[in-house]
Amino acid sequence: MPGVVIVGAQWGDEGKGKITDLLAENAEVIVRFQGGNNAGHTIVRDGEEFKFHLIPSGILHSTKTCVIGNGVVVDPRVLLGEIDGLKRAGVSVGNLRLSANAHLIMPYHVLLDQAGETKLGKLSIGTTRRGIGPCYADKALRLGIRVQDLLDEKILRTKIRAALEPKQQALRELSVQRRKLRKEAGEEAKAPAGPAPGAPDPRLDLHTMVEEHVNYGHRLEPHIADTAKLCWDALDADQTVIFEGAQATLLDLDHGTYPFVTSSNPIAGAATVGAGVGPTDITEVWGIAKAYATRVGAGPFPTELEDETGERMVERGHEFGTTTGRRRRCGWMDLIALRYAVRLNRMDSLAITKLDVLSGLGPLRVAVRYRSKEGAVLDSFPYHQSILHSATPEYEELPGFDEDLGECREEKDLPQAARDYLDYISDFVGVPIRLVGVGPDRAQTIRIDA
Ligand code: GDP
Ligand code: IMO
Ligand code: MG
Repeated sequence: MPGVVIVGAQWGDEGKGKITDLLAENAEVIVRFQGGNNAGHTIVRDGEEFKFHLIPSGILHSTKTCVIGNGVVVDPRVLLGEIDGLKRAGVSVGNLRLSANAHLIMPYHVLLDQAGETKLGKLSIGTTRRGIGPCYADKALRLGIRVQDLLDEKILRTKIRAALEPKQQALRELSVQRRKLRKEAGEEAKAPAGPAPGAPDPRLDLHTMVEEHVNYGHRLEPHIADTAKLCWDALDADQTVIFEGAQATLLDLDHGTYPFVTSSNPIAGAATVGAGVGPTDITEVWGIAKAYATRVGAGPFPTELEDETGERMVERGHEFGTTTGRRRRCGWMDLIALRYAVRLNRMDSLAITKLDVLSGLGPLRVAVRYRSKEGAVLDSFPYHQSILHSATPEYEELPGFDEDLGECREEKDLPQAARDYLDYISDFVGVPIRLVGVGPDRAQTIRIDA
């Protein structure tokens, strides 16, 4: 009954997609358990690139079952687009299963996310504007629409009507606030997006929305299933189930840098809730971290580099978001944050990706403690946001390397300085590094035996 969780150990985009695709070789079922199409997971196989937002990264293995679990929020338009894209690329989606209990991202969730971000202006979180937060909010409010509702038009209409009314009100208020803010900022000249004030918004028409969603239901029906039972059956038959996390530990709604987080729990413990299995079904936890650190959107990032080295990381690592195309903020590896992630997820193994990107950057730095603005030494991740916001990292400097790592396939192929760098990380956080990425292609991976 091996249940293997894969989680991001930093702020996302660590290469979870690539590692999931690799580890899926030895699994029968691959399950996404939280998040939505805010995720962007990239797999490169023999030079061909695939990007997934909702579909689990095991889909390229035609014999494996891929599950979108109950904890995921699903935008049906995006999911159908991904299914169509895979079919066009000749990839079978016959083994894709969608939890009947997963919640749907509705058009009004996307509009609310976009309007909310605009209103917050400078203080905005920098969400992906995909409707994630409003959808999880409706789930908690018990106003959500679930996948199974797509299969019953009467229920669907009743539920959408109940959910829609407060949204129309909220969107009207947000639009008034937005106009006020624009006026204050002297931006009257710009035409606001959406319908004229007071006019009905065609994107929020009940009849059209129900019709569209009934149609989505017809198309998705062959994939809809009791996915928790599917996981139990696999685990009880001693098959390996991989639980693929999206986002990452420091974006966790409870344990991340709130409010600059996502609206779900991307940590390992959440795999149980988001897939419907018990804690003792989880037998192994993998953390995925880049050899440096990146973050998209706003929020504290103690080791951020706003200099030439940071710029070179962006260039060498192609650090632009898979989902929104935004430039990722870059900085040195933060071992205080990584040690926090290791403990929070109780990781057994680490995969360090993008080691190749550090080549030619000169001496390498890793943050080993923070100093508070009052001068106190902080050896662990501070729970208080104000402390984290003003903490300064203190670094250990390690020798760098200039060799191109792209062709390295075994640990012994790596330059000594690269091996020392990995050893330093592993010793500091107390977890073995068992996979190392030296390029985007799945072949560009070094396996290290424990
Ligand atoms: P995810 O969200 O964690 O799945 O990561 P993303 O796919 O958003 O971003 C990771 C990016 O790094 C993708 O473009 C990958 O193709 C790429 N990548 C993954 N591993 C490596 C690696 O070891 N080296 C390099 N250079 N690129 C990598
Ligand atoms: P993957 O799975 C990196 C960030 C957004 C924003 C915050 C909240 O590819 O690693 P949201 O739209 O979730 O309400 O945005 O979270 N964010 C991610 N950053 N990788 C992701 O996913 C992310 N998903 C959300 O940039 O700061
Ligand atoms: Mg990503």
